Amino acid sequence: MMKILDQIEEASPAISYAGLIERIEILRSTLRWSTRLERGDIDKLLRQATSLRDEVMQLSHKERFVQAATAGEPQTSAEQSRGVRRKALLERSFIFEGTFGDNPRLLESLEIAEKAAPTDLPVLIDGESGTGKELMAKVIHANGARADKPFISVNCGAIPDNLLESELFGHRKGAFTGASNDRKGKFESAHTGTIFLDEIGELPLAGQVKLLRVLEAHEIQRVGSDETIAVDTRIVAATNRNLRKLSEEGRFREDLFYRLSVIHVTLPPLRERRDEIPLLIAWFGDEAAGTLKRRPVRLTPRLRDFLLSYAYPGNIRELRNVMYRISCLAGEMADVEHLPLDMRPAAPGSAAAQTDGGLASGEQPISVANLMSLSDAKRAASDDAEKAFLERGLREVSGTVAELARRIDMNRSHLQMLLKKHGLHSKDFRNRNAPPAKNGANERDEEDEG
Ligand SMILES: Nc1ncnc2c1ncn2[C@@H]1O[C@H](COP(=O)(O)OP(=O)(O)O)[C@@H](O)[C@H]1O
Ligand SMILES: [Mg+2]
Repeated sequence: MMKILDQIEEASPAISYAGLIERIEILRSTLRWSTRLERGDIDKLLRQATSLRDEVMQLSHKERFVQAATAGEPQTSAEQSRGVRRKALLERSFIFEGTFGDNPRLLESLEIAEKAAPTDLPVLIDGESGTGKELMAKVIHANGARADKPFISVNCGAIPDNLLESELFGHRKGAFTGASNDRKGKFESAHTGTIFLDEIGELPLAGQVKLLRVLEAHEIQRVGSDETIAVDTRIVAATNRNLRKLSEEGRFREDLFYRLSVIHVTLPPLRERRDEIPLLIAWFGDEAAGTLKRRPVRLTPRLRDFLLSYAYPGNIRELRNVMYRISCLAGEMADVEHLPLDMRPAAPGSAAAQTDGGLASGEQPISVANLMSLSDAKRAASDDAEKAFLERGLREVSGTVAELARRIDMNRSHLQMLLKKHGLHSKDFRNRNAPPAKNGANERDEEDEG
């Protein structure tokens, strides 16, 4: 019996239906024919069950992904090549670490990561907060030869300037007040593995000089010590700032910038890869459901429209958090009231509803109307600007949505969505001279450009 269990344990994690079924069968027959289980057997069975569960999850993610990427309407060749590119990565056993999406710009980043991973070249990842920089660093680590060695993450922006060097390189006892012991730094901890230097743009100049030295000589000195210590660490750095610009301003060493950015990956903000939002909503909805042990939450059309057109200043992190939030707060069905206050849409007609006293009794206004917060006010103003822009655009193209999409370089279905959000109908703009038809409450902020 132990023998069989050992066998399964050693079996390579073949993630295929056939492989899984076989492993389940072995477990089944093991249990069926054994008269008693020793403690060790039970532990092994539990481990097996857990690893099976993980594999089933992984398999379902993969399958679902491939389905998502290849299902649906007849594909354009661009869409097809996305599916193919993603699948090709899968087939080359690329480890995604949960990275999801098939936007061409993301795929390009993943393909760069794939090539960079087995080398020891430094990688610089830039992109706004929440675009997946740290995740990408983990992907690079996981796909390289150092995968089973430490991955050490340091947020250079979160450590006070005067402690940063000691944090990175360690210090000697007595090097400064409070240094009561010898201490090793993150570089030493990351020896043979990867160090992820997040918010590298915040590294003070003195630290930059030392980092340059690590890159050149692969050695460090603890603060307060002359002794050099050899370190073999792969460096992946990330920033949400423009390092080139910082270096032009003399705030970041140019030589360090070039050294770090041998391989440079830029992650696009979510609003520039909106095509991924529906997939990400489904993905995080399922993930949250799994974590919260509930059925995946369903979204009202109103909430779905909002989530599809929202700007996501916090990028994927914000989308993920909001899916967890609504999965936690909503019952079967989530609606805009489950969104965090600062995210909620200025409800169509909510302002009017207050001034008119038009709220049905017991009905909650969607925005915190009486005390509109600064961010609500900003959002409302930005909504109004968006609407005015779209109206002006529609007028210019006499209501031809495809033409407007082309002129403002926006995905057509996204544009349709925005028009819907603002209650704009292209047909009302067909005749250049006719004023747009009134659309109820949505028209209240209408400015006539005539
Ligand atoms: N492409 C992606 N697919 C799935 N999850 C993602 C993706 N990009 C980012 N995430 C998730 O979003 C959150 C923020 O990502 P993170 O790597 O910390 O961003 P950054 O370092 O750029 O601020 C994490 O929970 C991460 O797992
Ligand atoms: Mg981060």
